[in-house]
Amino acid sequence: MTDQAEQLRTATRTKGLEQAAYSNRQLAGQSRVLAVTSGKGGVGKTSLVVNLGLALSRLGYRVVIIDADLGLANIDVMINSVSRYNLTDVINGSKNIRDVIMKGPLDLKIIPGGTGLFDLANLDQARRGVLLDQLSELEDEGDFIIIDTAAGISRQVISFVEAADDFILVTTPEPTAMTDAYSVLKVLSDRGLKDKGKIVVNLTRNLQQGHKIFAGLSRVVQKYLPSMELNYLGDVRHDPAVSNAVHSFVPFVISNPQSAASTAVSRIAWRIASNSEAEQPFRRGIAGFINQLKGLS
Ligand SMILES: Nc1ncnc2c1ncn2[C@@H]1O[C@H](COP(=O)(O)OP(=O)(O)O)[C@@H](O)[C@H]1O
Ligand SMILES: [Mg+2]
Repeated sequence: MTDQAEQLRTATRTKGLEQAAYSNRQLAGQSRVLAVTSGKGGVGKTSLVVNLGLALSRLGYRVVIIDADLGLANIDVMINSVSRYNLTDVINGSKNIRDVIMKGPLDLKIIPGGTGLFDLANLDQARRGVLLDQLSELEDEGDFIIIDTAAGISRQVISFVEAADDFILVTTPEPTAMTDAYSVLKVLSDRGLKDKGKIVVNLTRNLQQGHKIFAGLSRVVQKYLPSMELNYLGDVRHDPAVSNAVHSFVPFVISNPQSAASTAVSRIAWRIASNSEAEQPFRRGIAGFINQLKGLS
């Protein structure tokens, strides 16, 4: 007779990683909240969020994306869908959170943030209560909740990053992107954040560049922000498949799954999923995220 672990190993062999991940997911209970951020704009944050979401869906996880990049929100464009409502309608009480969810490919769920989350500090008690109650329903909708934040060190961005279970900081090899990434880490370190930072280097030009950039950033962080610990999630090469996908409104992990960018993002998804299973007891989930936001506002 085979035990559960053996069944899982058999599933891995016979049906591949996807089935194994699905079985793992069923052992898990709570959403994991990931905030994806960057120092500088235009570094590929939104492309990563959408394609990472899809890559996690492919692994059998349920994924909800919250588009919280006010002003530059463009996830709907990337999946060629039009959002009629957003979190502001939820706060006003005119819509339920499930009414504002847009469906993307592979059952990906997307919530347009509107100005909703940004108003948190200015909302009266009743409206804030509505928003927080409604957000907590997402616990049933997603194994992963990925938040696409704005770039930079505004108070809102920092509060999302602090409230999330993990944050992914996207940089490119450009010196300006790296100094801005460092500024984000400095603010977070000053606020006492230590070990939930994960780095993705986008738009790399060769195999070694991602590692080199991460090593460089780590050295500076070790020297000037010694309490902070960074983890490397991987790099994504400069790949024409990414901009082709934006032009054709079909995310690259779907339109071009063999491309360098797709392979890279799938690897990143797999790393996140494995970390997530390992760190399962420590996650705070959407409830933790909400409580933390409440405390901050
Ligand atoms: N790995 C990549 N290879 C080629 N082009 C990329 C890559 N990542 C992002 N881009 C392009 O860079 C631009 C900005 O990407 P986007 O995801 O909108 O960035 P952000 O959300 O950080 O502002 C887009 O035109 C996108 O197609
Ligand atoms: Mg963006």
